[in-house]
Amino acid sequence: MTDLYAVFGNPIAHSKSPAIHAAFAAATGQDLRYEARLAAVDGFAWAVADFVGEGGRGANVTVPFKEEAFRLATRLSDRAARAGAVNTLIVDGTELLGDNTDGAGLVADIVDNLSFDLRGRRILLLGAGGAARGVIAPLLAAGPAALTIANRSLGKADDLARNFADLAAIEALSFDCLAGRRFDLVINATSASLAGEALPLPPDLFSGIGLAYDMMYGKGDTPFMAQARRQGALRCADGLGMLVGQAAEAFFVWRGVRPATAPVLAELRAKLAT
Ligand code: ATR
Repeated sequence: MTDLYAVFGNPIAHSKSPAIHAAFAAATGQDLRYEARLAAVDGFAWAVADFVGEGGRGANVTVPFKEEAFRLATRLSDRAARAGAVNTLIVDGTELLGDNTDGAGLVADIVDNLSFDLRGRRILLLGAGGAARGVIAPLLAAGPAALTIANRSLGKADDLARNFADLAAIEALSFDCLAGRRFDLVINATSASLAGEALPLPPDLFSGIGLAYDMMYGKGDTPFMAQARRQGALRCADGLGMLVGQAAEAFFVWRGVRPATAPVLAELRAKLAT
């Protein structure tokens, strides 16, 4: 019987995950079906229960259910426990395992697709919400020289740094304290561009920087990428490769097969441009 997978979110109609996983399945010869499922804002647990009742084997979870999935899981991977959020569920008998592949997807995109070695680099992570929290442990595992978190509200950056203090000494700053500081990589994990707002960053922050990476993506440059490019970043990237990377990691968790991401990313990029 064909194995059933799904992505749960609200909204979900424009999710690219079904197309990504269909492409992975075709490329690796895996017999599976992957659907987009809309869950009511207060109906996530029911939707998952229905899915498991239908024989569903695993699921991805997106906005706004990642924290609820974290609470719903009966067991958590270390990286999901660290992230405080679950984007991948695995149905294992009566257990519902919660995992988080977002950080692995980001690191794979930066290191493999963009060939940017993270070892010994000074990383600045902008934002201290769920998106930032999910990528900290995988970024630290890639061996940077230092990780700094800057956030509009300093208290949230401080809390996050304290949360990961057993892994590394993370510096927490407010945006105004970034003036005069030098980094090799700046990652935008804020949701500012969703609201069309520019980040109040010092003008020299991006000057000559190796990579400015936005976890958001869109047609053409995101507002963050445009800001970084204008201010002298040598290279900019959006989060489309992270999206494909987290999907590939979830596919690997479910199927034990690691799909190639480059062809799927190229296809999505071409579609986005039209
Ligand atoms: P997500 O799950 O996408 O991380 P979140 O948990 O609501 O969403 O976090 C949003 C992040 O974007 C926060 O770091 C937020 O900063 P505050 O903690 O100060 O609220 C940041 N953010 C959102 N809009 C912003 C803006 N216009 N300028 C700067 N930071 C912004």
